[in-house]
Amino acid sequence: MAINTDQVLVSHSEIEQMLERLSSELNRDYGDEPLIVVGILTGAFIFTADLVRRLEMPVIVDFMQVSSYVGEFSTGELKIKKDMSYDIKGMNVLIVEDIVDTGRTLALLKDLLLKRQPKSLKICTAFDKPSRRVIDLVPDYNGITVPDEFIVGYGLDLDGKYRDFDDIRIVRKE
Ligand code: IMP
Ligand code: MG
Repeated sequence: MAINTDQVLVSHSEIEQMLERLSSELNRDYGDEPLIVVGILTGAFIFTADLVRRLEMPVIVDFMQVSSYVGEFSTGELKIKKDMSYDIKGMNVLIVEDIVDTGRTLALLKDLLLKRQPKSLKICTAFDKPSRRVIDLVPDYNGITVPDEFIVGYGLDLDGKYRDFDDIRIVRKE
């Protein structure tokens, strides 16, 4: 089966406009308050890098790598492959994600980080696929809502590939 990634869904200039809008919302909402930004690896590495360079408050950048799986008797469990390095107690924390799909990963991650008693905890995602949601999770900041298609580029991958595209493309299997 061949993979076709010819169809552009979101252009690079639309991504730049999205970054401008999100960063002005964040700069407005947080003002001069220090912020810990937690990028979710690996998909959010480009988005995190682009976003933090547009933020005006003092920022600490950290990363976590997590995955969620649905167990036989549970609605979902979180596996932490890499935890963050900073203590978030009493801090404003912003989770930065590439895409929200079923919502499982972020719902579980939010529960985990809330136990560490941050001052505030919000979610900023580059892309949102609300049609696939199985858990009631609404990101506080959303870049671009996308249809129910598998997309790659701007950090998002298929088997580790295509993260380097500077636009978003739809994957077609032919
Ligand atoms: P969920 O919201 O827990 O279902 O999982 C979200 C994660 O699934 C994201 O962080 C991505 O890693 C991955 N994912 C979901 N949809 C896509 C897609 O269209 N392209 C690439 N990765 C995706
Ligand atoms: Mg991911």
